[in-house]
Amino acid sequence: MPLAASLCSFAPDMNSLDAHQLARNAPNMESMPQKRRTTRLAEPSPETIEAAAACLRAGGLVAMPTETVYGLAADATSEAAVAGIFAAKDRPTFNPLIAHLTDLEAARVEAQFAPEAESLARAFWPGPLTLVLPAALHCRVSLLARAGLDSIALRIPAHPVARALIEAAGTPLAAPSANRSGRVSPTTAAHVLADLDGRIDWIIDGGAAEVGIESTIVSCLAEGVSLLRPGAIPREAIERALGAPLAIAGGGKQLSAPGQLESHYAPRAKLRLHATYVGSDEAALDFAGALARRPTKAYLDLSPSGDLVEAAANFFAYLRALDSFGVGRIAVAPVPGHGLGAAINDRLSRAAAPRSAPG
Ligand code: TXA
Ligand code: MG
Repeated sequence: MPLAASLCSFAPDMNSLDAHQLARNAPNMESMPQKRRTTRLAEPSPETIEAAAACLRAGGLVAMPTETVYGLAADATSEAAVAGIFAAKDRPTFNPLIAHLTDLEAARVEAQFAPEAESLARAFWPGPLTLVLPAALHCRVSLLARAGLDSIALRIPAHPVARALIEAAGTPLAAPSANRSGRVSPTTAAHVLADLDGRIDWIIDGGAAEVGIESTIVSCLAEGVSLLRPGAIPREAIERALGAPLAIAGGGKQLSAPGQLESHYAPRAKLRLHATYVGSDEAALDFAGALARRPTKAYLDLSPSGDLVEAAANFFAYLRALDSFGVGRIAVAPVPGHGLGAAINDRLSRAAAPRSAPG
């Protein structure tokens, strides 16, 4: 069997970063030298999963499919491996990352579960729910991945390839979305390659992500239960499982998930939201055929039948596709706010926000 180290074109040699200092001083990774890596693109098989897992154990970076979007995984217990994620993404600030595990038992090692957290975990794991919980005393997840916080974000993905990779790596995997910072999240291996070729070691191609929008993030800390990020599980479903209404963190105004910057998911083109017509120089992102006058440039309908689940699955891929036409502006039809529409509208408003603060 080949040595793990030989599977990675880059094995970080920084072994003791001061995570608190890094989190506070947040250097701009864009100005840090990037060693070029050879990026291998592979179909999932027992051999490629094992090779990618060995690379992870040696501190490498692997893009993996999940049911929401592709994640850029590294060993969550290694400060150096996690630092590699920030560098590859050009993530300029140390937003905390989600640690991905295979089951609730493994999650209990890393965090404390209050009764509400327990019910949500039982209702939605494995699946597209991330819980922010008090870190356990002996939490192994690196301080850099946690941005020096006392809390930790955990998720048990349902995707069989992600599960196989975590299992084979034998360690929790920190994994933000596998895109360059501030860009549109990737829902296919080709999207990942377009953003991160030469910056990561492996991409495991598991086909198009089924849900297409990131996980819903719910905080279960001492202050109570609240929604930090609308996502793949509709708020309504969370409230049914809790048997109570779900507060929105910070009254919906303040940033509670540090990575929830106003500008995010930004295509090169500007977005014009709530459009009722399409200008001649604009591309169009439609919903349920609302934008009757179609432009000559480019037109895509998230769901001609008005299905929000279909719209979520198409969302990031369609934004990327329209952006690739090189238009200056994309007119976007209104999307209803219920169910997965809340997550789509959240991403749309961030994609349309001024670009002063990439995240
Ligand atoms: O679907 C997903 O969640 C994908 C896949 C790959 O699992 N991952 C993802 O990761 O979207 P990322 O890094 O793009 O978003 C993680 C979010 C950030 O907004 C971050 O600030 C928040 O989770 N977060 C992580 N730890 C936190 C903590 N301790 N407290 C509050 N927010 C936290
Ligand atoms: Mg992201």
